[in-house]
Amino acid sequence: MQIPPWPRADERETELLRMVLESPQWGGFHPFVAEFEQSFAAYQHARYGIGAMNGSVTLELALEVLGVEPGDEVIVPAISFITTATAVSRAGATPVFVDIEADSYNIDPDRVREAVTSKTKAVIPVHFGGVICNMQALLEVCRERDLVLLEDAAHAHGAEYDGKRAGSFGVAGSFSFQNGKVLTAGEGGMLVTSDAHFAERARSIANCGRASGRSFYEHHELGTNFRLSAMHAAILLAQFERLAEQIRYREDNLLAFKDLIADLKEIVWQRQALAQTQNPHYLVTGRVHRGARNEFCRRLAAAGVPVTSFYPHTLYQNPVYTRENCRVMPCPIAETRIHDSFWLSHRVFLAPEDTIQEIAGIVRAAVSALPASVLS
Ligand SMILES: Cc1ncc(COP(=O)(O)O)c(C=O)c1O
Repeated sequence: MQIPPWPRADERETELLRMVLESPQWGGFHPFVAEFEQSFAAYQHARYGIGAMNGSVTLELALEVLGVEPGDEVIVPAISFITTATAVSRAGATPVFVDIEADSYNIDPDRVREAVTSKTKAVIPVHFGGVICNMQALLEVCRERDLVLLEDAAHAHGAEYDGKRAGSFGVAGSFSFQNGKVLTAGEGGMLVTSDAHFAERARSIANCGRASGRSFYEHHELGTNFRLSAMHAAILLAQFERLAEQIRYREDNLLAFKDLIADLKEIVWQRQALAQTQNPHYLVTGRVHRGARNEFCRRLAAAGVPVTSFYPHTLYQNPVYTRENCRVMPCPIAETRIHDSFWLSHRVFLAPEDTIQEIAGIVRAAVSALPASVLS
């Protein structure tokens, strides 16, 4: 099967990296960093981009700018990567875990509303796998209860809902360019925002407390160094040139793939809102009966299809979280999804058409081989 490897580079990365290597600036002050920040922020429909080392420090940075501190609570989904929650804990605040919606896998706005207390300061929705959350409802809860909305858009490069892109709904959006992401330099992150004051403070804290237009050795904030390097920016600029085309290619392939196996009622795919106008398909997520999930994944993997049997637990089931350091709302859906769901990597859908047909055949065979007893 011709499933392309990920990440992938060609002579464009080499060319831009060579330009950095031949320059006297390999760090965050090379013009490539500002060029990537501006281009990517504009692509996500935001006015400012603040590059950083990864998509975990960007969350911590955003919470610091927002003044989240001990005594505050921040609502997060029960299903995400761990740093959505640990960023809150590292700010000294308490993460409050709430359930996801059954079909979208995204944080449920009704469950958010139920979890709000007088201590709640912010909500961090995650656009799971590239599917945009129910932003209208979430923004409404935030308006009603005077909460800040910070998007964890680590999965959502290019994701668009009703003509608006991920990261442009709340005060800021946090992106990751970690090795598996659809836009990657191995590591990297960015905060995007259209709020000039937020941008200025985030940039200052991430750049040792410097202020724009002031002297290099004058430090105004208790900052640190979170800067993105020139080498990462060079790779990201090259990767970014291909992103839009790769998103289109994946979309076409995925439509064809789902069409080929549309009759397989045993698989239920993650649902996106009709208003979602672009999905990067970072994780193509679906579910089968919980008793059949592991065997289904084993069969796909044995046939060479890169499949992951979802996160092994909800965020609050990680050893780092105890009764004392977080608050957990009832999460029956999240606790079911960890047993019945799986995802296919975005790279699967960069394969040529005949490979997509072959994978559809493998999925069909894996479903037919499942014992009827586990499917009933
Ligand atoms: C939802 C989510 N948030 C945050 C992160 C953290 O990003 P990074 O690995 O760049 O620190 C990730 C990374 O996988 C993620 O998936």
